Amino acid sequence: MRNAFLLLATALLLTLLGCGDSPKTVDKSPSSAKPAASDASNTWWKETVVYQIYPRSFQDSNGDGVGDLRGLTSRLDYLKSLGVGTIWLNPIYASPNDDNGYDISDYRQIMPEFGTMADFDALLKGLHQRDIKLVMDLVVNHSSDEHEWFKQARSSRTNPYRNYYHWWPAEKGKPTPRWSFFDVNSDAWKYDSLTNSYYLHYFSRKQPDLNWENPKLRQEVYQLMRFWLDKGIDGFRLDAFQFAAKDTTFPRFPAGYEKNIIKYYGHGPHLHDYLQEMNREVLSKYNVMTVAEGAGSGPSDAMLFVDPARKELNMAYHFEGVDLGNGPKLYQLREFKRIYTRWDSAFATKGWLSIFLGNHDQPRMVSKFGDDSPAFRAPSSKLLTTFILTMRGTPYYYNGDELGMTNIKFTSINDYRDVATRNEYQRLKAQGGDLPAFLTLAQRVARDNGRTPYQWDASTNAGFTTGTPWLKINPNYPQVNMAVEDKDPNSVLNYFRKAITTRKQHKVLVYGQYQVLDEANPHIYAYTRTQGNEKVLVVLNFSSEPRKWALPTGLKLNGEPWLNNYPTFAPAATLALQPWQALVVPLH
Ligand code: GLC
Ligand code: CA
Repeated sequence: MRNAFLLLATALLLTLLGCGDSPKTVDKSPSSAKPAASDASNTWWKETVVYQIYPRSFQDSNGDGVGDLRGLTSRLDYLKSLGVGTIWLNPIYASPNDDNGYDISDYRQIMPEFGTMADFDALLKGLHQRDIKLVMDLVVNHSSDEHEWFKQARSSRTNPYRNYYHWWPAEKGKPTPRWSFFDVNSDAWKYDSLTNSYYLHYFSRKQPDLNWENPKLRQEVYQLMRFWLDKGIDGFRLDAFQFAAKDTTFPRFPAGYEKNIIKYYGHGPHLHDYLQEMNREVLSKYNVMTVAEGAGSGPSDAMLFVDPARKELNMAYHFEGVDLGNGPKLYQLREFKRIYTRWDSAFATKGWLSIFLGNHDQPRMVSKFGDDSPAFRAPSSKLLTTFILTMRGTPYYYNGDELGMTNIKFTSINDYRDVATRNEYQRLKAQGGDLPAFLTLAQRVARDNGRTPYQWDASTNAGFTTGTPWLKINPNYPQVNMAVEDKDPNSVLNYFRKAITTRKQHKVLVYGQYQVLDEANPHIYAYTRTQGNEKVLVVLNFSSEPRKWALPTGLKLNGEPWLNNYPTFAPAATLALQPWQALVVPLH
């Protein structure tokens, strides 16, 4: 049973990308220090709210059951109505879709299922007309095995593209073990009989890893980046890039290394040389934002990506917070607070992080960190929204969370589409593992929970498609959908809009120093944000019970809340909080 849990958690990539041996002690960076002059610069990518769109599940325009670019373009006025400043779009490039677009066969083509380049140009234009920026995924730790480079590379040992990938000649014997996130056998070396060699793939066997040691490969990547930047896109999210650099002597790792995969796969030799080269040759020439997925083993690794003096990337996102509760253990608020506080203090004077609680690799945030039962789904979604929009760091908000969409909780493996879940199930089955336990855990943590189609209205298929959706739609869509919530002033959706407006009005919520209060409290997460004379208190009751919370001495409330997810507020020395109540109140 426990074994099944562990295996699932690992295979889903969730815990793994975020695990690691981060120090448990509080970082010493003084959170009271003034921001260093070089880093106090106000920039658009710190102030923007990023809204992540999973295009496959957003809006279908032609009835084939798959979301597409035209569908997305037809919803631009909705995006504008949210107040978000930036869209991050998951991959839309040509791909055989072994991993839903994270296996790219042509970096300069649009996936035919999603549309054409003309559709893309229209989307970009429509976004820019509405003052919304577009950030695209850059997936260059690996390509698809159907990419022309790989087809060439595998054709002969002397092919000019051979060194775009990592090979191990079989006459040298079996390669040193390398663990794979998505492979049915967990083996990252795949034997290829054509040239009697193994190739390396950290993800699925259809995602061979690119060889960043090869300067030609690096130049190809810079060129494709320029191709998109010259079209006018506003930045990149670097997918799995912390794994791109490898020690190509492929030394043997100690037994059990896969339990600490970031330490062995992350931050390989020359990673930062590559990023500095990328910055010099490409990024520095454009006014764009960049974000690294994954940030190494802890804050000091992460700082290396984003310290402005190093000229690499703008921000990174760590998984330590979001991955809590992805294993057999449910998350604990005290640990959650400790993690976010530690990361904040490490970046108090320089560098920048992103803040998120959900994405396409995660279950729905309300099902994990909130309470998705009918009574508390809405208030707890609003509370989590408050957290994301009042922490220091650029908010990344995942589509559907603004409706309070929940996990779908499939009961059969046949309902899943995700390569990670399906392959892990097969692996477990072959080993005679506990499949029912696996399915139970998957209901809580599998990635497809966060990928079900967007719920637009109460019509057939939630207004997502007139055909058969590629992934089942959550049966709660007649109650939980955009059309219903748009009309309801107290909906999660309208709270999200209000929270964005509030953040835009009060720069203290962007730049203000963060200070946690009452850290030991197991139910309440409270903190202040301070900038100059402006100070604001955030109080979040992370529980389905009413709670009392005494204001720490010295804090004096100063008027009406900027945000409150309940209709009334009674100022008092001890606040009486409703279940999942969230308050943002100015202080004297
Ligand atoms: C990143 C993506 C994930 C993908 C993996 C391999 O973690 O977010 O969806 O499966 O990289 O590209
Ligand atoms: Ca379609």
